[in-house]
Amino acid sequence: MEPTDIRIRMQHHLDLCLTEEVESGDPGFSRFRLIPESLPELAPESIDTATSFLGRRLSFPFIIGSMTGGAGGDPPLNHLLATAASRAGVALALGSMRPLLEDPSLRREYDVRLLAPEVPLLGNVSAWQLRDESFRTRTVEVSRELALDGMYVHVNAGQELVQPEGERSFVGALDAIVRFASAYPGPVLLKEVGLGLSTRHLARLLDGGVVGFDVAGRGGTDFVRVEALRADDPDAWLLASALESVGLPTALALQHLSAELDQQATGRRRRPLTLASGGVRTAADMAIALALGADLVSAARPILLASRQGEDAVVDWLEARRNELAKLCLLCGCRTPAELRGKAVGL
Ligand SMILES: Cc1cc2nc3c(=O)[nH]c(=O)nc-3n(C[C@H](O)[C@H](O)[C@H](O)COP(=O)(O)O)c2cc1C
Repeated sequence: MEPTDIRIRMQHHLDLCLTEEVESGDPGFSRFRLIPESLPELAPESIDTATSFLGRRLSFPFIIGSMTGGAGGDPPLNHLLATAASRAGVALALGSMRPLLEDPSLRREYDVRLLAPEVPLLGNVSAWQLRDESFRTRTVEVSRELALDGMYVHVNAGQELVQPEGERSFVGALDAIVRFASAYPGPVLLKEVGLGLSTRHLARLLDGGVVGFDVAGRGGTDFVRVEALRADDPDAWLLASALESVGLPTALALQHLSAELDQQATGRRRRPLTLASGGVRTAADMAIALALGADLVSAARPILLASRQGEDAVVDWLEARRNELAKLCLLCGCRTPAELRGKAVGL
């Protein structure tokens, strides 16, 4: 595929996520309630939402989710997101780096380190592309050039099946992820894109050096639907509606993933990181995700929508959620978001 084709696809994704009904519905957080503490014995100043991630400080445990790169814009969206992340003290995941790896002239769009010197910055590549050894080598080189702190590897088989130019065979990706994780000099995290990460291969992935897992469950931005909208073809819509039966709501997938990771943590030097995304929209969603075992939460589309109003709107969105999360911590008798773990019940 010509590089320009990928750029057009990136722009389509952004446009459709801004203008169309692309969310799949209920991420499952409303099936849980936080357990309150009637006598919290805490004052607002006792609450500390700050945490650390990849050796850097965050004002609260939040990552701006992977979205873009290569779609143009002035300033490019990644620049706006990087300065907003820096002001609000959150982490930033860049969108898929495939356009950059195929067209080095796009580097400026991904090169945000100087705009956000203190921000934990993650790159993003597809597990399917990593099957190509030269792609793995170039990803390591480009990550070094961009001074990234880590790399998200995404798995999105559902999206690929509906995308007209998408992958059809997924053979060999597990091995490729493990090869990449052993060659990559920083932390590698694995994420789904809207179906909820499965747990069958966790032990192999952890043994192979993957350190974190983002559940990216159902209920938020639905890339199967986005691809059906792009394809604008009745067969793609039929396939997309058949695929609606696949995928776990984020909260349920997270419960499952977190329980499996707890088991896998036994006997390992480091506890794997659990990340929650997919339909995280409110501070209550964030608090419930943390209660269900997430170390950090992430959202993409709400940030994209806020970015249309400019950098200040993104910072305002992030600061409002952080303040609300602090109040929820207080009401649950928790000094930190980490103390929320276990403080939710299913209805
Ligand atoms: C415009 C847009 C582009 C995206 N591009 C990527 C991508 O390149 N790589 C990736 O792993 N996920 C990508 N995603 C998926 C998000 O990272 C996230 O997993 C998903 O949107 C669910 O989060 P949300 O419900 O908060 O939007 C994209 C999402 C949006 C909205």
